[in-house]
Amino acid sequence: TGTHGPERPLAHLTPTTGWMNDPNGLFYDNETATYHAYYQYNPNDNVWDLPLFWGHASSKNLVTWEDHGVALEPMDDESGAFSGSIVIDRNNTSGFFDNSTLPGQRIVALYTENSNVSESQFAAYSLDGGYTFDYYEHNPVLDINSTQFRDPKVFWHDETERWIMTLALSQEYKIQIYTSENLTSWEFKSNFSHHGILGYQYECPGLAKVPVIHDSPSNVTLHGNNSTMNATAQTNSSSVDHKWVMFISINPGAPMGGSFNEYFIGDFDGETFTAQDAATRVVDHGKDFYAMQTFSDAPNNDVLGIAWASNWDYAAYVPTEDYRSSMSLVRNLTLRPYSPNPETTEFTLYSEPILNYTQLNTNQSMHKTSLELNSEESVSYRLGKSPQGLLEFSLEWKVNSSALTSKHEFADMSLYFQGAEDDDEYLRLGYEQNAAAFFLDRGNSEVDFVNENPFFNNRVSQNIEIYKIAEDGLPIFKVRGIIDRNIIELFFNDGSSTSTNLFFLSEENYIGTVEISSGVDNVYTILDFDVKQLSV
Ligand code: FRU
Repeated sequence: TGTHGPERPLAHLTPTTGWMNDPNGLFYDNETATYHAYYQYNPNDNVWDLPLFWGHASSKNLVTWEDHGVALEPMDDESGAFSGSIVIDRNNTSGFFDNSTLPGQRIVALYTENSNVSESQFAAYSLDGGYTFDYYEHNPVLDINSTQFRDPKVFWHDETERWIMTLALSQEYKIQIYTSENLTSWEFKSNFSHHGILGYQYECPGLAKVPVIHDSPSNVTLHGNNSTMNATAQTNSSSVDHKWVMFISINPGAPMGGSFNEYFIGDFDGETFTAQDAATRVVDHGKDFYAMQTFSDAPNNDVLGIAWASNWDYAAYVPTEDYRSSMSLVRNLTLRPYSPNPETTEFTLYSEPILNYTQLNTNQSMHKTSLELNSEESVSYRLGKSPQGLLEFSLEWKVNSSALTSKHEFADMSLYFQGAEDDDEYLRLGYEQNAAAFFLDRGNSEVDFVNENPFFNNRVSQNIEIYKIAEDGLPIFKVRGIIDRNIIELFFNDGSSTSTNLFFLSEENYIGTVEISSGVDNVYTILDFDVKQLSV
């Protein structure tokens, strides 16, 4: 029942066999200190198809997951138990429970039952902590006679003491907001419509009360590398501010192609969400981050999110035959001032990956400082003896653009993460000063899919903000990366922007070397480069 195989990521949730898409029903069970994740699941094939189920996995550490198979079934073989969420109904507002179920385990799922003729919202509840479910006998709980009405995300709103549901009227570009006293009868309140990038349709919305941290991150003590379940370190004071954030998934129609997540910062009065401005903000700039959902009842009221780490443009073709798709790492989400301007009143979403180091072995680590790059020589580091494909790195670099001799020359700093068995295969990433942009190139592989599927763009790029200004006045940039066999997650500036991307080197050609080089002289200084080879 383990979720590991030769090629699959080690520290990311994957299905044992079959197909997986969106995360569903994420919740934390405080009684047993267990995280539960469900997901869109086709156990019968490695592509999406009906009947579609909810698969189920649980984790104590958010690194390794135990598979529990199918949790929810559709009503018949031509239908799907589509995306939805789980809440803990402590006060038994639904009447589904009696005293034999602990308040913290009164688990109610609200999800979309999809059939040829409709998408309507169903309820199911669990009397055993989320392992098996009973279906509410008067389903559906919400039906408006639409075939494009789905993905309910429900939460308890303290201020109005009611349940709130957001869901998508997908092709009308409306996020609808409903309220309920009991989880089974729902009243329409408002539409949040035609915001941001529309694409073909809206999917998987979510409204969350996200902690605001007023210090910009370079001023606070970060709880990065040695942390365990530390995502909470900064947010457990009782006087934390919050802002409401609406998350929406778009597919297809992302600016970078296919599927993506956007978010809006604003206010929520219990009935209506009002965005603070007209800006469209991007949750993750990579190609493989979709349908993010947040956990119900996470410790300390943290806002913890997981996304499906793939893209509908090519998810069905990726070269993992035994299973298809993995989730992202769990991310702790906060709002912080947009660095580096300490005066700013502008907030942006920060994402911090949760990697539990008590669960991981560090097989080798390497740390370099003060490395001036020039075009004559590159430096190359071997990363341990028998790499497992799981590594973490952190890189800080300083850019002296006055050393550039031309604005028309390609002025890069590049890291080549090369396969241990075959170093012609590599993942390249880096920064280019004339474009003022970060890039990632996943095209250097012998795997046919990478070269043949036109939607699997080899290259992604994005602007990144300055991390801080050095004493000599030059800008410093920072990125932290987690590479896990076929997925790389990048976190810039302690998480003010991120990029999640799949990549495929040949089987068992795990990354074993990193080479750093630059096309120009004296422009780039590596201030700090830290790499760890990890295993589970
Ligand atoms: C998003 C989505 C949802 C739907 C589910 C079906 O990826 O299309 O809107 O509920 O997948 O699997």
